[in-house]
Amino acid sequence: MAYQNLISEIKENILYITINREKALNALNKDTLTELADVIAFANKTEQVRGVILTGAGEKAFVAGADIKEFSGYNGEQGEDLAKRGQDLVFNAIENSSKPFIAAINGFALGGGLELAMACHMRIASDNAKLGLPEVTLGLIPGYGGTQRLTQLVGKGKAIEMITTATMVTASDAEKIGLVNDVVPQADLISKAEEILNVIKQRAPLAISAAIKSVIAAVNNGDGYLTEIKEFGKCFETADFKEGVTAFVEKRKANFTGK
Ligand code: HXC
Repeated sequence: MAYQNLISEIKENILYITINREKALNALNKDTLTELADVIAFANKTEQVRGVILTGAGEKAFVAGADIKEFSGYNGEQGEDLAKRGQDLVFNAIENSSKPFIAAINGFALGGGLELAMACHMRIASDNAKLGLPEVTLGLIPGYGGTQRLTQLVGKGKAIEMITTATMVTASDAEKIGLVNDVVPQADLISKAEEILNVIKQRAPLAISAAIKSVIAAVNNGDGYLTEIKEFGKCFETADFKEGVTAFVEKRKANFTGK
């Protein structure tokens, strides 16, 4: 896939997406969001892709936010449209993806950049990373789901503190408050994300999707227990369930096919 603002490649069933606007600290302009929407749809429909690692180009920034330079002249309606389109096509699309997404946060994750990382299912940060939602310094608030997902991840009090003060937290503080899963030296960032996906790759793909869907339902639509019941039931209809149980009884490693 050839993109202007992204690098994307598949290696050993992992799709690597790198936001590639290093000079603008990988800020999300409209074209980048359009390309992200496209590559997320590709990840969903491509069987070969078992997981996704999303990162930013260079060693300074994951993503420093939405592209502020595109904002000038926007009115309320355009602002609302920007947030809605972005949420629908990119941020919610990542969260609702059937494939596990890991954000590899290699530096600044600010505003829309932190919102992008929070839309992913897991976050690994390099030890130089700084994370925050500085929108109020621009007279705005987060618009790509940040008020909701930060609250889900760190709780109401800390979320309100971070959003209203616009202060950044270090990677190690982010780990302490549950905003990132793990912190590693920058050189180990991608291999740490790969380590997690390489374990997931050994599991039954449909069960992975069902598990993610059920966990997301816990925080998003209030019917998490029902979602879990339905998804649990659906797993019994899969060939991989039969294979998993047979392999256990036969004392061998399961050979899952994603069916
Ligand atoms: C556009 C950006 C950018 C952004 C950085 N750049 N962030 N361009 N949009 N969000 C550009 C700078 O203009 C500059 O290009 C280049 O990247 C390097 O940035 P510097 O500021 O020179 O680097 P530095 O001094 O090291 O400071 C790094 C930084 C700072 C602390 C990350 O760049 C910064 O505060 N950026 C903005 C962060 C932010 O407010 N994000 C939230 C955006 S609002 P030039 O060509 O000028 O040299 C948002 C809303 C989401 O995300 C919701 C929408 C619905």
